Amino acid sequence: MRFQLVFPRGLEDVVKSELEEKISFKIVVEENPQGIPGRLIIDIPESDSPKLMSLRSIDWFLEYVGAFKVDTSIRGLEDIYSGIMNMKFPNGFRKASSFRVTCKRRGEHEFTSMDVQRKAGQALVDKYGLKVDLENFQANVFLDIVGDTCFVGLSGSEHLSGRYIVFTHPAALRPSVAYGMVRIADPKPGMTLLDPMCGGGIIPIEAALSTNSVKIYGFDISEYYLEGAALNAEAMGVSDRIVFKRVDCRRLSKELGFKVDRIVTDPPYGTKPIAKINPRAFYSRCLPEIRRTLSEDGRLVLITIKPGYVREISSEIGLRLEHERTIRHGDASPSIMVLKPS
Ligand SMILES: C[S@@+](CC[C@H](N)C(=O)[O-])C[C@H]1O[C@@H](n2cnc3c(N)ncnc32)[C@H](O)[C@@H]1O
Repeated sequence: MRFQLVFPRGLEDVVKSELEEKISFKIVVEENPQGIPGRLIIDIPESDSPKLMSLRSIDWFLEYVGAFKVDTSIRGLEDIYSGIMNMKFPNGFRKASSFRVTCKRRGEHEFTSMDVQRKAGQALVDKYGLKVDLENFQANVFLDIVGDTCFVGLSGSEHLSGRYIVFTHPAALRPSVAYGMVRIADPKPGMTLLDPMCGGGIIPIEAALSTNSVKIYGFDISEYYLEGAALNAEAMGVSDRIVFKRVDCRRLSKELGFKVDRIVTDPPYGTKPIAKINPRAFYSRCLPEIRRTLSEDGRLVLITIKPGYVREISSEIGLRLEHERTIRHGDASPSIMVLKPS
C-alpha cells in the first residue's frame, strides 16, 4: 500500500531512520513529492500499515491516491473538480456506501477549505454516484493542499500530535519535534536526560516513550505547567519514568547537585504571552547553568528562534556548536542546535 507521511520539514532523516527501525528498509518511494518538503511517500505491505500508528516522528499520514496542481485563485476550485474527476480511486473506495471530504490547507488561496470540500465532494458524487455523509461516512477523502499542490488520500490518521495531550501548554512543542530532538540527542541506556524548561512535559514524555533505562527529569519554574506535565505523563503511562520538579533554571547547577548526560530543551522564545522575557538576557543566565550541569562528554539539544544569541553566548561559556538545522514548526522556522562542552 502507498502512504503519504506528513512531518515537520527539516526532520526527514529522523523520519527515515524511525521508518527503518520500525517498518523496513527501502520503502521510501518519493521524498519531497511535487517539491513539497515535510512529506514522504512510502510503499509498505498492507500487513505493516498498523505500524504507522506507532511512528512518533510524523504528524499524520494518509493512504496516498495521487496529486495535481491547483491555481491559488478562485479558479483553483475548477482544478479541484477536474483533478478529482481524473483521479483513479482504489476499488475499496468505489464500493463504499458513503463518504466525506476533509481538507487541510497551507498557503494563501482565494478559496476556503469548505469550498474545496464541497467541490471535491461534488466531483465524487458525479463520478461514482456515492452518497455524502458527514457523520456516518464509510470513506474519508483527505485533500492536503500546500500552495499550488493538492495531495489526495484516503482515511489515514487523525493528527497524531494530539494523540496524548491531556494538558496543552500555550507554547507546546509538537510531539514529532520533541521526538526528533530526543533522537538527535541519542541518549543511551544508563544515561540521564533533563529538560530544565519542560512546560507540558512533551520532551521528557517522548524521551520516556522512546528509550529504555534512561533516567529522565523534567523541570520548570511553573508549578501549574508541571501539574499539566504530570497529567500528560500519566495519560501516556510513563509517570514512573520521569521526575518532575519545580526548579528555576537560572539556579540549575545548585538545585540539581549532579551532572547530566543529555539536556534537551525548548526555552521560552519571548514571543508568547506566557514568557515576557528578553531572550538574550535570559539565555545569558540559563546557558551557563546548563553548561555547568552538563557532563564533559554530554550533549545539549535545544530549539530556538534566536540561534544567533545561542551561538554568541555558547562560544563565551565553553559550549561548541556541533550541528544546527532549521525546521518548520507551525508558522515559525526555529533552529535545532546541538552543542557540546569544548
Ligand atoms: C517554550 S515553553 C516549553 C514548552 C514545552 N516544550 C511544551 O511542549 O510544553 C518554555 C518553558 O520555560 C519555562 N520557564 C521560563 N522561565 C523559566 C525558568 N527561569 N526556569 C525554568 N523554567 C522556566 C516556562 O514556564 C515554560 O513552560
